[in-house]
Amino acid sequence: MDKLIIRGGIPLKGHVEAGGAKNAALPAMVASLLIGEPIRLHRVPRLGDVKTIIDLLNHLGVKVERSGQETLSLRTDGTSQLEAPYHLVKTMRASVLVLGPLVARFGRARVSLPGGCAIGPRPINLHLAALEKMGATVSLDSGYVEAKAPRLRGARITFDGQTVTGTENVMMAATLADGTTVLENAACEPEVVDLAALLNRMGARIDGAGTPTVSIEGVPQLHGAEHEIIPDRVETGTFMVAAAMTGGDVTINRCVPGHLEAIIEKLRETGALVEETDHSVRVRREEQMQGVNIRTHPYPGFATDMQAQFMALLSIAQGSSVITETVFENRFMHVNELLRMGADIKVIGTAAFVNGVPTLSGAPVMATDLRASASLVLAGLAAQGVTTVSRVYHLDRGYESIEQKLRGLGAHIERFTE
Ligand code: EPZ
Repeated sequence: MDKLIIRGGIPLKGHVEAGGAKNAALPAMVASLLIGEPIRLHRVPRLGDVKTIIDLLNHLGVKVERSGQETLSLRTDGTSQLEAPYHLVKTMRASVLVLGPLVARFGRARVSLPGGCAIGPRPINLHLAALEKMGATVSLDSGYVEAKAPRLRGARITFDGQTVTGTENVMMAATLADGTTVLENAACEPEVVDLAALLNRMGARIDGAGTPTVSIEGVPQLHGAEHEIIPDRVETGTFMVAAAMTGGDVTINRCVPGHLEAIIEKLRETGALVEETDHSVRVRREEQMQGVNIRTHPYPGFATDMQAQFMALLSIAQGSSVITETVFENRFMHVNELLRMGADIKVIGTAAFVNGVPTLSGAPVMATDLRASASLVLAGLAAQGVTTVSRVYHLDRGYESIEQKLRGLGAHIERFTE
């Protein structure tokens, strides 16, 4: 397993580019199951999770070819099979996205239940209830969900809770359903909007993506298309926090600041200077950071995927902060590791109470999940001394070449393979 060794205390300075968004690339790749023609996707990042979904799509009979650094071509002539096996699904929950497209195109699917992960049980009941409303017969059998429907029919569906991949799963299924589907309480994330843009390029008829009410008029079939994935707002936010924590001056290019308004607002509240253009954001910090209160919320609220990173920042801000995690049950796994670096944090239920300390001390720490590992890297960049982050395979799931990008900003960070 790899580890990252970081010598902290160096202000990061310079320019860095955002990569394509992991959480937009995954559903876009799965959309290839809906047609027999190829789709070409640009700006697909080289990440662990992208490799996992390629393995799953290959298993289902999709041919995937990478051309150049960031372009993928995906073609489904006919699936070799309609089962997403446990050993592939257990490593990445987003694998359940194949359920809707397989049922819509081939009339049935058998997908392993994802099981929980470090940040919570992560059920898919909302996905299944929606497919049942569209006429699918859903049954559970020895850890697998089986869904069958000769042809899905349009339905009016109100999600009990906002779910990003649930909205994406049902939106894809509805493109080929008989009639119109209306989703209420749909997720509004930019990644949902990006998927709808791709599906409409493929001939779907989707209106309202990005709002809580999305309507999808079913069509007999879709066709091939080409699409560029949106920039990764969480990677962008992570580099913004790195600049603020190290007292540096960093510009992130090829990003969409409009996807990060809640993060930018909170960063300014801590005292960081944030300047935006249409496709870049510059973050500087010259004064002592001030503590702020954070409450995660579905988009456009403060993204739960930025909570761990912001906690690292608040652990060295002046004063106290309260961070309330409202989306996942157990997304404070980074706290124990931050405590080992000298942070002063107390977790009570879904709230973390942070008292800022003057500085963190480098230490050996262990990553537990994707965003927790980002939080530990950020803490190491700001800490005095050397931090070793182990189990960085968690980090590699969602950040492409992070040590190269950070070194480009002046960080002292090296990867070692044990
Ligand atoms: C997506 O996960 C993202 N992943 C997550 O990013 C992100 O944290 C999450 O949305 C919230 O923004 C991808 O897009 C691939 P949810 P998803 O369904 O869709 C509960 C990262 O770091 N729920 O919106 O799995 C669920 O347990 C990852 O890149 C149900 O109860 O999240 C959670 O508490 C981590 N039943 C809440 O809803 C369901 O059927 C939100 O989950 C579905 C969800």
